[in-house]
Formats: sequence, C-alpha cells, structure tokens
Amino acid sequence: MTKVTICGAAGGIGQPLSLLVKLHPLVDQLSLFDVVNVPGVGADLSHIDTDSSLESFLPADDGLAKALKDSDLVIIPAGVPRKPGMSRDDLFNINAGIVRDLAVGVATHAPKAFVLVISNPVNSTVPIFKEVLAKHGVFDPRRLLGVTTLDCVRSNTFVAGLLGAKASKLDVAVVGGHSGETIVPLFSSLPGYSKLSDAEVDALVHRVQYGGDEVVQAKNGAGSATLSMAYAGYKLADQILKGLNGEKSTSSAFVYLKDDSLSGAKETRALVGKFGGELDFFAIPVGLGPKGVESIEYGVLEKVNAKEEELLKVAVGQLGVNIAKGTAFIKG
Ligand code: NAD
Ligand code: LMR
Repeated sequence: MTKVTICGAAGGIGQPLSLLVKLHPLVDQLSLFDVVNVPGVGADLSHIDTDSSLESFLPADDGLAKALKDSDLVIIPAGVPRKPGMSRDDLFNINAGIVRDLAVGVATHAPKAFVLVISNPVNSTVPIFKEVLAKHGVFDPRRLLGVTTLDCVRSNTFVAGLLGAKASKLDVAVVGGHSGETIVPLFSSLPGYSKLSDAEVDALVHRVQYGGDEVVQAKNGAGSATLSMAYAGYKLADQILKGLNGEKSTSSAFVYLKDDSLSGAKETRALVGKFGGELDFFAIPVGLGPKGVESIEYGVLEKVNAKEEELLKVAVGQLGVNIAKGTAFIKG
C-alpha cells in the first residue's frame, strides 16, 4: 500500500499536482491537506476512475495527523507565492512558519516518509525542515529533498530550442540552489554546446536563473509558476515512487551534504569548497532508489568549464546565507 500526502493541495500547484498523482499507477492512497478549500478539490478528484482511494483533510479534528498518518511520500507546495517585485526570500517570513509546522506534523505522524519540499524559499525551507526532523530524532538525509526539478525542466526546454534537440530527450544537470544566481545550469557537457556563442550561453543561463520571474511577471500579480511546477513536482515524485518499487534513476534535487554515510557527500563538500564555501545543502544530481537518495553524483562538478566555475562561486556565497537563515529560524 503506497500512500502519498500533498500539503497545500488546494493551491495553484496543489490542485494540478494532486490530479497528476491521482493518475499514478503506483499510488494506492492519496491524501490531501490544506487550510482551505480542500474538501471541494478532494470531492472533484475522487470521481476519477483510477484505482487509488482519496481522502481530504482540513486542520480541524486532527486533520494534519490523519492526512499524514502512514504516508510513504509527503509533497509540500504549501505557502504563499511571489508577486512582481518580490524575491523568493521575501516569502520567508510567512512560509518559514508554515513549513516548520508541517515539518512537526511529518516528524510526529509520518517520520519514515520521503518528503519533497516545494515551498519557497527552497534554499531556506529545506534547512528548516531538516532542523525540525533532527530535533525530533527522525532526520534521514536520504528522505528529504528540496524540489529544484523546475530548473532542470526549464533548462531542457530553453536549450532544446537553441540546439534543435528534443527537450524530452535532454536531462540538464542544475546545481546550487533554487533562486536567481544560486541556480547554476550545467550546459557545457551537452553535445552541441560548442556551437553556442558566449552571448547565447549567457542569455540561456540568465533565462533559467530568472525563469520564475518570467512567469511571475506574465501572471501579473496572480501568483507564480503552478502548472509547470506541478509537472516538475510530479516528475520527481514519479522517480521516488518508482525508486520505492526498486527502479533506480537520477535527478537533481537540493539535498543535505553533511552525512558521510551518503555516498558522494564528502566528495561533493570538497568540490563545493573549491568554489568558496562550506555548505550543508546543495542542489545536485542524486541517485534515487528504494532508500531514496542513495548517492550524490558529484562527477558533474568535476567537469564544469571556466564560465560555470564563476557562476558556482557566486551561487555558493549566496547559498550559505540562505541556508544559515533557515537553520537559525529553528535553532535560534
Ligand atoms: P497558492 O497560494 O496558490 O497555494 C498555496 C496553498 O497552500 C493554498 O491553498 C493555501 O491555502 C495552502 N496553505 C497555506 N498555509 C498552509 C498550511 N499551513 N498547511 C497547508 N496548506 C497551507 O501558491 P502556489 O502557487 O501553489 O505556490 C505554493 C508555494 O510553492 C509558494 O511558496 C511558491 O513560491 C512555491 N513554488 C516553488 C517552486 C519550486 O520550484 N520549488 C515553483 C513554484 C512555486
Ligand atoms: C519558480 O521558479 O517558478 C518558483 O520558484 C516560483 C517563483 O517564485 O519564481
């Protein structure tokens, strides 16, 4: 029996993500949690003739505990999105508390679940989640992932146009974090990269780093990416679910680096150190399998070119500040 819980299920990401998860053949139970509107979303989705059962919960009557109980995978798109002119860090004051409370719920009611954190600012919300799980003695770096898949999805889409390649066949590694200059797409190992001019590469990197802003501006006050994010969140959730079923794969995600029992963690820390910092978390391709994150695929950092090295130096500096802010929110 595989149970997936989505926290923030009635939101702009939550609704299409819940629809996609309702269609997933490996899901037996889908559980939806939100502070508003979730009974309607749940009633609507429950009419879909796939084989998973569906329940929805508001906070009343221990709703969070019931939603999370026995979950194998918890996906978290809860919290406020950006409006034009805001940075992701501007969301910290509201979203930090939301994520902390959901983390307490997971630590208490689903301590063995895999957790995918979508809520922004990811560079800080994932450290918050980690600290809460650690406080409760249930943190396992194999099971906590910050979702940076949208950066990979955007990289595949944007570079495909330039290279005349099929986006669906590409798998660009994106390292660093998930905001502005902390997002570092590694295009240099793609076949055809040498055909791109310096100006084309710079424009491409900038478009990936600020792809979120492109959507925020186009939506003009009505929120940020929801549909492409639901797709990206589903893409990673699908890999986790298949991993639980024994199928191995690789995906970039924002993961904890300071546990040497995780294959590749030590090497990644050493390579990140070369770019100027000591970081607890980093987005990087990871090997996924039955235990969740089974390895950190640090090899991508050994192959970066000079331009990417410069981008990484900037990213590492900013990431340290974002991570420390999340950690301090719990540790004080
Ligand atoms: P939204 O406002 O449409 O939906 C958020 C939902 O969260 C709402 O339904 C709200 O009721 C719910 N919520 C608020 N507090 C809650 C709580 N304590 N428990 C459960 N649910 C709660 O926003 P959205 O567009 O879906 O975006 C959600 C978050 O995802 C934002 O922080 C946004 O910045 C982030 N985001 C991240 C990425 C990424 O790549 N990681 C991409 C897009 C958006
Ligand atoms: C994105 O990259 O689209 C998200 O992080 C949402 C945002 O605020 O840009």
